[in-house]
Amino acid sequence: MSVLDVGCFDGFYAFLAERRAAEHVVAIDNEQYRLWVASRWGVELRGGEGFRAVHRLLRSAVEYRRMDAFALDGLEERFDLVYCFGILHRVENPLGLLRVLRGRTVSGGMVLVETYGISPEDRNDPAIRIFEPRRFTRATSSSTGGSATMACGGLRRSPARRDQSAPRDGGFRRIRCRLMPTLIPDPLPAEVEALLQRRREWGADHHDEVWEGVLHMSPPPSPRHELLVTQLITLLQPLAKAKGMAALGAAGIGVTDDHRVPDLTLLRPPAVQWNPTAALAVEVLSWREPADKKLGFYAAHDVDELVIINPDQRTVRWLELREGAYEPVQRSGVIDLGPAELADRIDWDPFPVEPEDR
Ligand SMILES: C[S@@+](CC[C@H](N)C(=O)[O-])C[C@H]1O[C@@H](n2cnc3c(N)ncnc32)[C@H](O)[C@@H]1O
Repeated sequence: MSVLDVGCFDGFYAFLAERRAAEHVVAIDNEQYRLWVASRWGVELRGGEGFRAVHRLLRSAVEYRRMDAFALDGLEERFDLVYCFGILHRVENPLGLLRVLRGRTVSGGMVLVETYGISPEDRNDPAIRIFEPRRFTRATSSSTGGSATMACGGLRRSPARRDQSAPRDGGFRRIRCRLMPTLIPDPLPAEVEALLQRRREWGADHHDEVWEGVLHMSPPPSPRHELLVTQLITLLQPLAKAKGMAALGAAGIGVTDDHRVPDLTLLRPPAVQWNPTAALAVEVLSWREPADKKLGFYAAHDVDELVIINPDQRTVRWLELREGAYEPVQRSGVIDLGPAELADRIDWDPFPVEPEDR
């Protein structure tokens, strides 16, 4: 495999790729970091000096070039894997950079990107914010503060030619994006406190969960997810009522510092904020969080039945708790319904929705 590391700095990832058996590794940097190091620490570095020191120590064969990323068009070679770590948010024309990187990627190859972005809550904020000198570093860069989120993703280069035709995605066939979980030790920065407060005021925290003391802030549900859940409430409410229960859209199971919030919960009376158990929990699968991760929790809380709905495959799995583990069943023991009948009654396309960005 061949690897190109763009904006390599001292070459950490380039050397790692070589260590992990990449046959040919090229690392480039325009050595802009010299300005940053000089302004922050008053140290004048010679360009590439850190890289060369490690290169010697490792007896590495990684090829280093002092080069600007936007000059990569002049390089003939293409690579199986292109790293773009910590640089996309530093250039004036990020989409242009993606296009350049696509040009250096073999057909079917991949560009792996790590960058900062904005969280959904801040998507209406200005695209560029200018901070007073040093303020960004001191106040914001150590915590994401709700406005900048580390994201890592892969862009798969299409065999087909799309360079000119795709302004939004830099011409790549498939884009996958993963947010990097961020642990912020106490005390919480004021920005995060403010974000939590804002979410409480908006009622945007109804689906947040606490997993053994760790808050999992749930992103807002997608329209497709909401359309499905609203429909399920309508379908299941009369069946729940017939058995003296209620179907709730956001009912917590567990205790304050360890609870889950299924997409839909069937509760026997009385309903409380944190219910010790439930008759039935419904999880609608999402690419963001696999529902299977919650099975152990529901079993430990004696939730009688679990319904897992996969909107992509249009399937319904109905599970019943037997001796501490969930087993598939063809008919519910809690309400008068089964998986096949529910799958039949769901309108899987009730309303046109845009495909989700993944
Ligand atoms: C934050 S560092 C990231 C270093 C490394 N990729 C990592 O993730 O640890 C950004 C690096 O990109 C380099 N850089 C910034 N803009 C560049 C450009 N237009 N072309 C090439 N290198 C660039 C900087 O000199 C610096 O070394």
